[in-house]
Amino acid sequence: QRLPLPTYPFERQRYWIEPQKQQQHHYPTPVSLAKKSDISQWFYIPFWKPSLLQPQLEVEQATPKSCVLLFVDECGLGNKLLRQLQQQNHDVISVLVAHNLTKLNESEYTLNPQQPGDYDALIQELSRQQKLPKKIVHLWSVTPGCQQQLEFEKVEQAQTTGFYSLLFLAKALGRQQTNDDFEITVISNNLQPVTPTELVSPEKATLVGVIKVIPQEYANITCRSIDVTVPAPGSWQEQKLVESLLGELSISSCEKVIAYRGGNRWVQCFEPVRLEQAKSNTPRLKQGGVYLITGGVGGIGLVLAEYLAQNYKAKLVLIGRKAFPNQQEWSEWLLTHDHNDSISCKIRKLQQLQQLGAEVLVLAADVTDLQQMQQAIASAHSTFGPLNGVFHAAG
Ligand SMILES: NC(=O)c1ccc[n+]([C@@H]2O[C@H](COP(=O)([O-])OP(=O)(O)OC[C@H]3O[C@@H](n4cnc5c(N)ncnc54)[C@H](OP(=O)(O)O)[C@@H]3O)[C@@H](O)[C@H]2O)c1
Repeated sequence: QRLPLPTYPFERQRYWIEPQKQQQHHYPTPVSLAKKSDISQWFYIPFWKPSLLQPQLEVEQATPKSCVLLFVDECGLGNKLLRQLQQQNHDVISVLVAHNLTKLNESEYTLNPQQPGDYDALIQELSRQQKLPKKIVHLWSVTPGCQQQLEFEKVEQAQTTGFYSLLFLAKALGRQQTNDDFEITVISNNLQPVTPTELVSPEKATLVGVIKVIPQEYANITCRSIDVTVPAPGSWQEQKLVESLLGELSISSCEKVIAYRGGNRWVQCFEPVRLEQAKSNTPRLKQGGVYLITGGVGGIGLVLAEYLAQNYKAKLVLIGRKAFPNQQEWSEWLLTHDHNDSISCKIRKLQQLQQLGAEVLVLAADVTDLQQMQQAIASAHSTFGPLNGVFHAAG
């Protein structure tokens, strides 16, 4: 017997698998995050690789008119960039360092980089006018020359116009109730030692950290660093550098640490290096040595202290901001407070360090306060003698 089966209707619908679009960006090859059992394979060394601004991305140069917030430097590089951006029909709002937040005109502001409130007020004002740019170019770490001798004031100034300026800016952007993405490009000079003979400005080194951390704290902010050598004003080299920077600003690249040297573009990469156990038996730490640990009664501080007590019978100076009971009051404190009281737990831990052979001095001082730290070090000196080492674990 023949039975008719239901037919498959041909509905003239096309189910074609399209070829995959070519990747626009070159993302780095993913690395395994699994822990390597061999500790000698845990290390990496930075190096600089010559690189070209990806040509297929340069097409994006014809991006529509956008608004750029430009923190203009004192060397004239920012002003050159500003003019070129304006010629490309971008709206540019420039910000200069001054004592006060001032609106000079519709597109020029000044602010005091020491005042976090100035950044908030500027960002709020631009947001209110619906002129808050998505692209921000920060050139306040482009400075004249490289100092041979570091003066304390210059170090402080570099933090104010570099590290703190970026921190306050990121916080001000973070306080905006928006899901918009922001892209901060930090242009500096003398930050990176790309070639072996270059002079670097160590006071600018803190930029590297803040540029790395801002995008980790704020998902909608990307940050990249472009270190340059500043050519003579009006030279063809200056024109070339400005053109390269305009090219950089027109693309969104996954390369976050870039440098320009003599017209060449470099990107920072990391190469694994094998570090074998040190051959020398010379100990780095001293038996009975005097060691100061900032954040010394915190989690990591106490682990370090225990190691130094156990292995070196060290004299330990432990620093935190909160006042800690004097040693003479410890027994009384333990008797009159709950077993789980946080100070009681720390006192018992300190007594354990003493049983291991360490001597302990707990001092209250804020690491950000020069005077308090000077006093703490003077008291450590008078109790135990000169310091043999410092561990910074406050935070
Ligand atoms: N625990 C971890 O697994 C881990 C891992 C990687 C990195 N870290 C980093 O290592 C640092 C210490 O971590 P932790 O776990 O030991 O933290 P913690 O238990 O909170 O201890 C930090 C200590 O630093 C002190 N401190 C904070 N600010 C200070 C200041 N301005 N001046 C002087 N002392 C200050 C605090 O004491 P007062 O409050 O009395 O000032 C506290 O005792 C942090 O920066 C942390 O981010 C920790």
